[in-house]
Amino acid sequence: WWDRVRPAPEDPIIGVTEAFLSDSSPFKINLGEGAYRDDEGKPVVLECVRKAQAKIAGSEFLELVSATVGSNLVEECVKLAYGKDSNFVKERKFAGIQALSGTGACRLFAEFQRRFYPESRIYLPIPTWPNHHNIWRDAQVPQSTFRYYNNSTKRLEFSAILDDIKNAPDGSFFLLHPCAHNPTGIDPTEEQWQEISYHLKVKNHFPFFDMAYQGIASGNLDKDAKAIQILVEDGHLVACAQSFSKNMGLYGHRVGCLSVLCADNKQAKAVRSQFQQIVRAMYSSPPVHGILLVSTILNDPELRKLWEEELEVITSRIMRMRVVLHQTLEELNSSLSWDHITNQVGMFCFSGLSPEQVEQLRSRFHVYVTHDGRISMGAVTTSNVEYLANAIHEVTKR
Ligand code: LMR
Repeated sequence: WWDRVRPAPEDPIIGVTEAFLSDSSPFKINLGEGAYRDDEGKPVVLECVRKAQAKIAGSEFLELVSATVGSNLVEECVKLAYGKDSNFVKERKFAGIQALSGTGACRLFAEFQRRFYPESRIYLPIPTWPNHHNIWRDAQVPQSTFRYYNNSTKRLEFSAILDDIKNAPDGSFFLLHPCAHNPTGIDPTEEQWQEISYHLKVKNHFPFFDMAYQGIASGNLDKDAKAIQILVEDGHLVACAQSFSKNMGLYGHRVGCLSVLCADNKQAKAVRSQFQQIVRAMYSSPPVHGILLVSTILNDPELRKLWEEELEVITSRIMRMRVVLHQTLEELNSSLSWDHITNQVGMFCFSGLSPEQVEQLRSRFHVYVTHDGRISMGAVTTSNVEYLANAIHEVTKR
């Protein structure tokens, strides 16, 4: 048995962490995975999570709590994504289900897409989070890509996005990052979202949002969901994957939600029953503890406010590190422009470093970033930023 099995290729993100862990240098820094750290470089348990934990202590393993808590979580998630005053939310014209974080929500949707629209394709931005390719591949949905980012200008390739939308076969599915695009950190403006929305509608394409970083682009939850709301107001039925891995620091708990807007309640019930059937056959139901933590925070006005304050702290710390990194590279008299470091938003800096330069960062300086040059700004701190700037300068100077 198993002779036919060859090792799978290394994951472009998790593989970086594995290499980091086996490096014995005291100088090593892991800027691969998008995990937030405090200014001391320590993983953060948010205060709102600690308080929620204390509040639910003792009640978390009750049987059947899962279904009620799960539906409350979905209820709160759709308010976060579509706005609490959205008619879809008020009239319950949505099908939602708790999911194993953003990956689980995407996988569930991909499965649903293949079952009900087997002739459709998914269009993924270039670049995107690499796991999107794996997820739709494993669900056996045909994939295409659309241009998103221009490597030379380090800006959005806006006219190319529109051209690719126009050239896709009618009724295609488009995966969009509503905020803090991973890996580029570049989001369309509101006006650009309106144009994107218009062209998607002309072609009857379906917008699927993967929102893994709500609150981490601007520090404001509503603002970061604006793209979704623009498309919904423009008449699209959309779907959305949500994750609490980053914005509540609950990566290990796998808490998320998949929701799809529907024409009416009847449709919503049908879609939800299909989600339930897919989940039932795959893993039956998700673990309840993380769901309980998130729904406790979202339902308690004090904890919710605390969460929002903590999100502001996270985003401003990341922004401060962007400013210091940029400034330090200038002080080192780098001949290159590093303005994109501060123009980008969210967890990542898409540095523009080549794979060779990334390799040198690793071999000469023990600094670990992904092969595409993505730097996780969430792990840059006051004490490592100068070392990082110097390493970047050394591998890029001519
Ligand atoms: C990332 O892009 O680094 C994060 O989304 C972590 C992951 O699961 O890949």
